[in-house]
Amino acid sequence: MERILITGGCGFVGSSLAVDFVQRGCSVTVLDNLSRPGTDILLEKRILPAGIEFVHGDVRNPADLDGLAGVYDVLIECSAEASVLAGTAGRDVRYLLDVNLQGAINCFEWSRKRLVPVIFLSSSRVYPYDRLNACRYSEMETRFELEVGCPGVSSRGVQVEMPLQGIRSFYGASKLCAEFLLQEYAAQYHLPAIINRCGVIAGPWQLGKSDQGIFTYWLARHYFKHPLKYIGFGGSGKQVRDLLHVQDLSELVAFQVQCLIRDGQSYRGEVFNVGGSLQSNLSLREATEICARLTGNTLPVGSVVETRPSDIVWYVTDNGRTETVFSWKPKRSASQILEDIYRWLRDNENVMDKFFLE
Ligand SMILES: NC(=O)c1ccc[n+]([C@@H]2O[C@H](COP(=O)([O-])OP(=O)(O)OC[C@H]3O[C@@H](n4cnc5c(N)ncnc54)[C@H](O)[C@@H]3O)[C@@H](O)[C@H]2O)c1
Repeated sequence: MERILITGGCGFVGSSLAVDFVQRGCSVTVLDNLSRPGTDILLEKRILPAGIEFVHGDVRNPADLDGLAGVYDVLIECSAEASVLAGTAGRDVRYLLDVNLQGAINCFEWSRKRLVPVIFLSSSRVYPYDRLNACRYSEMETRFELEVGCPGVSSRGVQVEMPLQGIRSFYGASKLCAEFLLQEYAAQYHLPAIINRCGVIAGPWQLGKSDQGIFTYWLARHYFKHPLKYIGFGGSGKQVRDLLHVQDLSELVAFQVQCLIRDGQSYRGEVFNVGGSLQSNLSLREATEICARLTGNTLPVGSVVETRPSDIVWYVTDNGRTETVFSWKPKRSASQILEDIYRWLRDNENVMDKFFLE
């Protein structure tokens, strides 16, 4: 029975992985400081009923990690302040840097001392948005489409080889710095490590906000009939994202755990792109149509023409190397993902309504 430690394990991704690992017969401990609003509900509704051990702790405090009593086979680092808007328009950035950098370093140090392999959840936000927005796009009826790629962006999407010089948001920068540091730990200390650079992840139990978890947020706003706005790129809602069902991510991570346990030294901090790909992507406008169909609620969607710093016109993941190395592909389509979220909202309406009211 594999013993898994998940930091940030009461968040959307961490709790989904935790529940899935328990169903696979693993023993799981989650460490979380419950700083994200709503994580107390995920703790009560998902973590504790599944028999997962919960430790209230803060990754910024090494003593909280050192105080863990268990022995673990793999650490999955999911803790983060994940707002791409932190540091813009006067918003504070200090907490994000402390958690995403110092917290990640503390996790890597904990792993180094025990030689516990690490899976690090990074983000496609490490790719500079000025480079992504500099590719040529055509404006179609419901979406922008990539017309001519640029270095690292092909018709299949953004590749892991995309050049990294440019501006990417404090969030993206903090994730990239943590990636670099983990690669040093892997090289200097022979710490087995895998880095998953994830695009938008979605699914049931995501406490989606406009700046993180956009598709769940979009559907929930329809469900609870609350106003929405298309922001940026002319305000037409044609910007495109791919989306990955969290269960598809779980299947990949479960396989990666096996790889690390069997042959950890073959994994030295290599980076893998992980996203919905060309098989699962939507513009916001297209998402609106599906959300209206599922919920039966057609909302007037407002429009803000100006583009905010860090907005991206088109992001689709090229999973190429991830597919080859781990024999993995996402299985669930964008519509299936939204249907799944819809069913979850319907079944948990009275618990979730307060999260989607502003
Ligand atoms: N959800 C996505 O679409 C997405 C996309 C790409 C990458 N990621 C990455 O995946 C990981 C998980 O994302 P998520 O969507 O579950 O986010 P989330 O906000 O739901 O979860 C993050 C968790 O970290 C916890 N946390 C924050 N500060 C902490 C601290 N100081 N100590 C301990 N715990 C702390 C929060 O309470 C929360 O439970 C993050 O690293 C994120 O950058 C997520």
